[in-house]
Amino acid sequence: MSGESTSVSGAHFRYIAQRTTPEDAFLRDLRAAALREGIPPIQIAPEQAAFLQILLRAAGARNVVEVGTLAGYSAIAMARALPPEGRVTTIEIDPVHAAFAERWIARSDVASKVEVRRGAGIEVLRTLASGSADAAFLDADKASYPLYLEECLRIVRKGGLLLADNAFAFGQLFDPHPADREAPAMKAFNEVIARDRRLQSVIVPLGDGCWVGVKV
Ligand code: DHB
Ligand code: MG
Repeated sequence: MSGESTSVSGAHFRYIAQRTTPEDAFLRDLRAAALREGIPPIQIAPEQAAFLQILLRAAGARNVVEVGTLAGYSAIAMARALPPEGRVTTIEIDPVHAAFAERWIARSDVASKVEVRRGAGIEVLRTLASGSADAAFLDADKASYPLYLEECLRIVRKGGLLLADNAFAFGQLFDPHPADREAPAMKAFNEVIARDRRLQSVIVPLGDGCWVGVKV
């Protein structure tokens, strides 16, 4: 290793989580309701949501594309970091997840800023105009991430952000026999994005690892 790095432990992650601007009551309620309704508890961590909000605010983002709505947690969080005319277009293939997310978006303070588009990620992405987004966040089926990346590199403007969840492959990055069937796909994606010179990118160790890239 070159340069200096502190070896980061679980204690550091708890320390970070306890010192990050906290999740608000609405998103806490959404998380609990999603759990009660049987939606997989795989939303981004609250400190990762805060980080996405910080990035979007710092970038002055207005239009954001998300692949993988799940319960709408990240879409609502990101929408809150946008100006009044801002918009999150979030894509969800699972009709049960899309219906849950739409219900919670409708009763949130950002109902007018979030649109759920139902369908396969790649098909909906292909309908979005080139250069029309300031940021894209990938948090869906991992085998398709390379395709999503390609399409989002078209949709996101130069200087915009390409963000992707689960760089740590559900905690199984260094597991020789990962239990999760999507872990190999995530590891393969890490190699794809790491070598892509159309981006300047880094993995930020929040939640399950978050890729942050800028389209150069
Ligand atoms: C899992 C976690 C995620 O954040 C995701 O996007 C998909 C799957 C998981 O833990 O299985
Ligand atoms: Mg994820």
